[in-house]
Amino acid sequence: MNQEYEKLLRCLDRVRQKTDFIPRVALVLGSGLGDYAQDIQIEYELPYGDIAGFPVSTVPGHAGKFIFGRIDQVPVVCMKGRVHYYEGYPVSDVVLPIRLMKLMGAGILFLTNAAGGVNSSFHAGDLMLIRDHISVFAPNPLIGENIEELGTRFPDMSAVYDGELQHLIRRKAAEHGIFLQQGIYAQLTGPSFESPAEIRMLRLLGCDAVGMSTVVEAIAANHCGMRVCGISCISNLAAGMNPSPLSHKEVQEAADMAAPHFKKLVTETIKDMKV
Ligand code: HPA
Repeated sequence: MNQEYEKLLRCLDRVRQKTDFIPRVALVLGSGLGDYAQDIQIEYELPYGDIAGFPVSTVPGHAGKFIFGRIDQVPVVCMKGRVHYYEGYPVSDVVLPIRLMKLMGAGILFLTNAAGGVNSSFHAGDLMLIRDHISVFAPNPLIGENIEELGTRFPDMSAVYDGELQHLIRRKAAEHGIFLQQGIYAQLTGPSFESPAEIRMLRLLGCDAVGMSTVVEAIAANHCGMRVCGISCISNLAAGMNPSPLSHKEVQEAADMAAPHFKKLVTETIKDMKV
């Protein structure tokens, strides 16, 4: 059997020794949504460190655990803390948690992140619905022997972000008076922020926001048949668009400021997800 798949099944076994909870929606909490767990009726928490072979995040503000619980009636699993490629893990490990949540039972993946605004009409603190992505600056998570049990060798990527879920998010934002931008998210590897020239290049390519996560996760989720949606919190304008240099602290502070709207939109959307 494919070694990646064997590892995945071992992780699943470990989860099942701890809980028989079956989530329908998987939610990845990015910067700023770190304390989102407050909005969940928690049933069980599983630190990543308890799952042998599971990649454990090393970034401040990304302490890692799965939170199992309900948002209204919808059974969810949340990732409090994700793993980034720049931490040095192979990209197959970066997407392992996504595949694992699919095997637990989740058919929908809700991705969130903090991102730099590339579109010059964006402001720090805006929320952006992800309509599509640019993956060519990050390693493709499907490189290597295909895991046939999960999906096909050459998966279609023409509609990664589910149209109905996008519609639902837009509707919920309108109902609750939450301003929502829309656009294209590009993943670069990081960990350095981009140069101003790179941001100009991304803008020419049609990117609206840039970050260091999300796209590899969306590709792996699409490959294994999950419906995907995503929202970025624009935590800063990207390099060269502001006179001051970028810092991780600034990104976290701006993401924290936008958190109340962000949480509301995520909660209200999940409540209405048909699973
Ligand atoms: N660039 C890349 N990743 C980011 C940024 C940025 O400006 N802001 C938050 N994550």
